[in-house]
Amino acid sequence: MQIFPRALKLLDMCIILKWRNDYDTIYNSKTIGRISPHQHFFWFFTRLNSEKFIGIVFENGDRHKVALVTFSQINFNTYLTSININPKFRGKGLAQNMIASAIEFVEFKSTDLYAEIKETNVRSIRAFTNAGFVFFTRNENEKISTFVLRIK
Ligand SMILES: CC(C)(COP(=O)(O)OP(=O)(O)OC[C@H]1O[C@@H](n2cnc3c(N)ncnc32)[C@H](O)[C@@H]1OP(=O)(O)O)[C@@H](O)C(=O)NCCC(=O)NCCS
Repeated sequence: MQIFPRALKLLDMCIILKWRNDYDTIYNSKTIGRISPHQHFFWFFTRLNSEKFIGIVFENGDRHKVALVTFSQINFNTYLTSININPKFRGKGLAQNMIASAIEFVEFKSTDLYAEIKETNVRSIRAFTNAGFVFFTRNENEKISTFVLRIK
């Protein structure tokens, strides 16, 4: 299947809330559970207008929205990467290509990219590793353990 990257836009807001509130995404989220429309609108508008956030949406040839890959700046040359795939398109081996292709699309230069993933989220860890990320460190608190992966 061919998929094409483009910048996140306002019209993506509703579908991204749907993906975000999907059971698997909630289960694999590091923070809170279900997001209310109000929380999502606030999150979305803030990110869309922020220079510290890059959102890349992938569409297939039929213009169906397939995934969102995000890059959140944590300092001047460091970004945290995340991916959420439309539940209908999961399990098809697309994740690693979209991660790699989003990185290429943004054309990062001398940038450190990290991904922090719940230790139990094996599919995501595999996808990021296949896209070239390597183990950096492990974070643990009383609630969750995460792996931090890095690509340079
Ligand atoms: C995590 C996510 C991006 C993975 O995408 P996906 O389409 O489900 O996964 P893929 O089909 O691309 O498979 C990724 C890898 O995991 C492997 N995998 C799939 N299911 C697995 C399982 N149950 N156990 C171990 N590995 C598994 C696949 O074989 C593949 O590895 P390979 O290419 O080396 O064979 C997707 O499930 C998702 O959006 N989940 C909800 C949000 C989320 O968890 N995001 C990650 C936060 S950073």
